[in-house]
Amino acid sequence: MNSNEIQSSLTTNLFGRNLIYMSTVDSTNQKAKLLIKEGAISGTVIIADEQTAGRGRLNRIWVSEPGKNLLFSVIIKPTIANEQIGLISLYAGLAVAKAIEETLQIKPVCKWPNDLLLGKKKFCGVLSEAIFDDNELKGIVVGIGINVNQLNFPEEIREKTTSLKKELGREIDRFKVLNCVLNKMEYYYNKIQKGSINLIIKEWVHYTTIFGKKISVKQNREEIRGIALRLAEDGGLVISTAKGELKILAGDVTICF
Ligand code: BTN
Repeated sequence: MNSNEIQSSLTTNLFGRNLIYMSTVDSTNQKAKLLIKEGAISGTVIIADEQTAGRGRLNRIWVSEPGKNLLFSVIIKPTIANEQIGLISLYAGLAVAKAIEETLQIKPVCKWPNDLLLGKKKFCGVLSEAIFDDNELKGIVVGIGINVNQLNFPEEIREKTTSLKKELGREIDRFKVLNCVLNKMEYYYNKIQKGSINLIIKEWVHYTTIFGKKISVKQNREEIRGIALRLAEDGGLVISTAKGELKILAGDVTICF
């Protein structure tokens, strides 16, 4: 595959029309951040077959067998208030969930804030990074890793990780999935630009199973327990704890059965 071949499989108007394909890169997010500084347009996509320093949330690494999965970053420049930036990870998760449901007829679960699961196993992660210049938002890098055709995973993550191929038992066309994800991202981006950012929360909640459940949230070394109630307007997770309602903005959530 090269840039032209990937681009010709796209049916979007804006997203991916400026597309950079690299067989190997340190991290597509890193590359995207440099491109924002050089003035890359909204909808620019950086996609790679292999990352040598793929990154996940909370400084974790993202591992992926070369050529099997989708590893890409999308540059967006939404006109939103700084307090709404947290909604962008939910936006990306929603777009991926919708795309998977539409192309493969399976419904993923969105795990707050930005994982996607099939059954109880993760197949997709989102790492959004906002770039500021003098407190002014210059752009957001939305990095997405989707395990598409990988069957074997390192032992440390094997139990909690899956791929589309593992779940469906057949090879999946990566670029069909990419096209659908970019179409959904473009659709919701246009809604955000028209002021309908609330739509993200309204639709995201259809893909989660967390509300009403007892959860524990790990933040650094602290653990908070409570019942998940709802999403706040900024995408934070509101939970009911022994000390009252609390809004969580980041952390690792586990549902306690
Ligand atoms: C997570 O689950 O912690 C987020 C994982 C995000 C991985 C993707 S792969 C493409 C992009 N480039 C990166 O270095 N990370 C994101």
